[in-house]
Amino acid sequence: MQRFVIEGGKRLSGRVSISGAKNSALPIIAASLLTANRVVLNNIPDLVDVRMMIELIEYLGAKVEFAHHTIKIHTPKLKRIDAPYDIVRKMRASYYVLGALLVRARRAKVSLPGGCAIGPRPVDLHIKGLRALGVDIDIEDGFINAQARRLVGHDVNLQGPKGTSVGATINVMIAAAGAQGETVINSAACEPEIVDVADFLNAMGFDISGQGTHTIIIRGQASTRDVEYGIIPDRIEAGTFAVAAALTRGRITIENCRPDHLTIILAKLEEIGGKMTRGEKTVDVRGYGRKQAINIYVAPYPGFPTDMQAQFMALLSITPGTSTIKETIFENRFMQAVELMRMGADILIEGDTAVVNGVRKLSGTYLMASDLRASASLVLAGLVAKGKTIVRRIYHLDRGYEKFEIKLRGLGACIKRQRE
Ligand code: EPZ
Repeated sequence: MQRFVIEGGKRLSGRVSISGAKNSALPIIAASLLTANRVVLNNIPDLVDVRMMIELIEYLGAKVEFAHHTIKIHTPKLKRIDAPYDIVRKMRASYYVLGALLVRARRAKVSLPGGCAIGPRPVDLHIKGLRALGVDIDIEDGFINAQARRLVGHDVNLQGPKGTSVGATINVMIAAAGAQGETVINSAACEPEIVDVADFLNAMGFDISGQGTHTIIIRGQASTRDVEYGIIPDRIEAGTFAVAAALTRGRITIENCRPDHLTIILAKLEEIGGKMTRGEKTVDVRGYGRKQAINIYVAPYPGFPTDMQAQFMALLSITPGTSTIKETIFENRFMQAVELMRMGADILIEGDTAVVNGVRKLSGTYLMASDLRASASLVLAGLVAKGKTIVRRIYHLDRGYEKFEIKLRGLGACIKRQRE
């Protein structure tokens, strides 16, 4: 096990370069199985989850080279059609291979992903969408057994109990790309990562339109071509560094990002009391100190991203006044709260709402990471806490942040990685 040791109190300054988006890389790597052509992917972040997805597609028959943020993938034919429990349990995004396996082999056996720290994580909408395309699915012994004599395009509505579904939209889009005829996905999710997957599929030779809106049209066809594609930058990594600058009253330049993907995040930081200067691929963040408590209402894109609420909770815990955060997507995504309270934060959890009363300072102590974004929240709190903060079980962070402590040190933070 490894941990981060952080000395708080340093103002961040300088430049940080954002890596490719984890939540684009995972489905796009999986979708590369759709073709026997050669696929080259650029701007791929070197993350634990990316390496697990590579391990999975190699298990299924892909030949893969991954170096210097570029992946070369060639899958002349599949060797297997199952995604074993041991891989899926570690990374639920493994279910993204379902659609590609059905297109290439007309059958797939993927372990049910199960829940995770932030909630039960059902896949009923994935199943509903695939069944609409003519896939026979039954669930037996914890596995999704899927087969389809033919994949036939169809209209499908993917509205779930919490609104749209990123995963279900992507999974159905991948399967529909290889189906006969047209598929219309209504109530599609609009996240930038979905647009990225659709743009990649079009670069391969498929025909998708409407990505970024709630209605995506996929005109199924099989002819693909060799493709080279660069994925978008990670908006959640960029947002995490913007919060780090605001927390420490620092001034940083975030490079290789998409300011247009950060609209609500930057607006909320300006509401608290920061100054954000947007360039074409950069954002200058100046943390003017925390002046104004705010209310955050999590919602699907373009609303406030659930993947940013933990990071903002750290910032609001030392912002004067009473702020509220309403988490509408996941059932158990406030796990950072108890750890922040051990640092002196004053937070009250009332169902899906966190009430955060800003305190003057946080104190460093031993903390336990729990899930990816809650762990990031604890690191951010450590940057501004008095004294030393030790964040344990940082493998959670290595799943979604590339060289996190190295990038923070490059901005002047006093943080180092140690063996437990
Ligand atoms: C993706 O998860 C992201 N993961 C999550 O990021 C992100 O928080 C989430 O989208 C929301 O933006 C990846 O892209 C790998 P959903 P996903 O399907 O696809 C319910 C991170 O930190 N639902 O949009 O699993 C579900 O329970 C991770 O990078 C159903 O009810 O999210 C949730 O309440 C964490 N039935 C809501 O919909 C289904 O079949 C949104 O889930 C599917 C989902």
